Amino acid sequence: ASFETVLFEKKGRVGLVTLNRPKALNALNAQLIAELNQVLDACEADADIGAIVITGSEKAFAAGADIKEMKDKTFGDVILQDFIAPWERITRVRKPVIAAVSGFALGGGCELAMMADFIIASDTAKFGQPEIMLGVIPGAGGTQRLTRAVGKAKAMDLILTGRHMDAAEAERAGLVARVVPAADLVAEALKAAEKIASFSLPSAMLAKESVNRAFETTLAEGVRFERHAFHALFATEDQKEGMAAFAEKRPPQFKHA
Ligand code: HXC
Repeated sequence: ASFETVLFEKKGRVGLVTLNRPKALNALNAQLIAELNQVLDACEADADIGAIVITGSEKAFAAGADIKEMKDKTFGDVILQDFIAPWERITRVRKPVIAAVSGFALGGGCELAMMADFIIASDTAKFGQPEIMLGVIPGAGGTQRLTRAVGKAKAMDLILTGRHMDAAEAERAGLVARVVPAADLVAEALKAAEKIASFSLPSAMLAKESVNRAFETTLAEGVRFERHAFHALFATEDQKEGMAAFAEKRPPQFKHA
């Protein structure tokens, strides 16, 4: 299937999704979110995809929810539609997802990036939650995920003042995993995703799920969850292959099974 507002390419075992409303700085409208969700469904269903990269343009990952589409909605509209609920699809993707962010990641754009498993930023990236300047607040998890990522002080600063933070500040604060030169962003993100996708997919999926448990439960429960997941991986062929390959000093041939 081909879409208007997102582009999709398979690069080896990686699904590369490019947000594609460049004239609107990739403002996230209902069509884009619906198309993104269809691409994510297809990636999840495709046994030959082991990791996903979501990127935007050089100027903008996404400058937020589409303000023009949103501005006339009433409380009745948004509560009855459960406006923003479809955005959560990405948080249910079980395969690893990297957000490769260049330029603006503002409002819903920053929130979408934070729903990925980690963010690789270009040195031109700018992050912010400027919703307060529009008379609202973050509505796609920003008050929660930004606070968990950077702590209360910086989350309050960003959300209450609406200011942007650059890539260096975002890396210092722990919002992004790495910063790379703008020209290398997509190549570096694809390289990381290809590496992840080369490992046993069941182990990558359980690693991701286990890290995510850290945000949902106590330390003791999280450690128990991890232990069960770790034990379960001994039922896979890939565990036998990975450890045999190490012992035999050869590269492993994972079957993702
Ligand atoms: C709709 C947008 C948009 C947005 C930019 N555009 N952001 N359209 N929704 N969020 C459009 C502009 O209207 C303009 O269209 C074109 O993209 C280029 O933008 P400019 O403003 O001309 O570019 P520039 O001067 O470089 O400024 C870039 C910018 C600015 C600083 C990123 O565009 C900006 O402040 N945008 C809004 C950022 C924001 O407030 N985001 C949060 C949205 S609220 P035309 O047709 O004029 O050329 C939100 C709520 C989240 O995300 C809650 C639930 C998800």
